[in-house]
Amino acid sequence: MLQITNLHAEVDGKPILKGLTLTVNAGEVHAIMGPNGAGKSTLGYVLGGRPGYEVTGGTVTFAGQDLLDLPPHERAAAGLFLGFQYPVEIPGVSNVQFLRESLNSQRRARDEAPLSGAEFLKLARAQAGALEMDAEMLKRPVNVGFSGGEKKRNEMVQMGILNPKFAVLDETDSGLDIDALRIVGDGINRIMRAPDKAVLLITHYQRLLDYVKPDFVHVLADGRITRTGGPELAHELEAQGYAQVAA
Ligand SMILES: Nc1ncnc2c1ncn2[C@@H]1O[C@H](COP(=O)(O)OP(=O)(O)OP(=O)(O)O)[C@@H](O)[C@H]1O
Ligand SMILES: [Mg+2]
Repeated sequence: MLQITNLHAEVDGKPILKGLTLTVNAGEVHAIMGPNGAGKSTLGYVLGGRPGYEVTGGTVTFAGQDLLDLPPHERAAAGLFLGFQYPVEIPGVSNVQFLRESLNSQRRARDEAPLSGAEFLKLARAQAGALEMDAEMLKRPVNVGFSGGEKKRNEMVQMGILNPKFAVLDETDSGLDIDALRIVGDGINRIMRAPDKAVLLITHYQRLLDYVKPDFVHVLADGRITRTGGPELAHELEAQGYAQVAA
């Protein structure tokens, strides 16, 4: 589904990704762990097409298309979703407006009929309910004044509404309380565990992986994948640290 080959990317002329190769097949969940500053978020931004992240080599194929050739909105319409480590606040635009516009522009790009206001509200309420988010929060400006954990939960509501094929979730577990971690973990499984979908889960901790069981765990260090294993690798890392396990 997603094939990254020898990817090189730089920010402000500084090389960050240095020959990263990774294949994710449909139906799989891959966890990416790695030291601070290794390039994990950079990988997410490059896949999403964030300006300023310049690809200097390598290829990325998504569902048979050259992903790097597509502008960001076409990547989203093709089914790519990016959950941010630091979700952005959008003052003046309500969650409902933002999500409805996002969903309908993606639907239009796929030649699907846009949802009416009533149809959309029904969907949004159901997704908020599934993530135990107060539906009142749908009326508030996107993420403005949301607590850290509320922002993360809101991102999962967005994911539930957009129903992507492939999600890159960057530290979705950070800042979540114990109950929220379970709710978000269950949400990821509910929305994304399907034979035709896949997930790249960037995390520092084992605890999310207790809920969202990865098929593969990778270590990203110094801009490339330095080690790949099964779920046991996450336990090994937690016990021993990166220096021991993936030096
Ligand atoms: N705009 C920028 N200008 C300069 N350096 C940058 C910029 N963006 C990222 N970097 C650098 O790129 C490196 C990789 O950053 P990245 O955010 O991808 O790390 P990460 O693996 O996600 O780390 P963390 O675990 O702390 O989230 C860091 O050294 C960071 O300082
Ligand atoms: Mg990061």
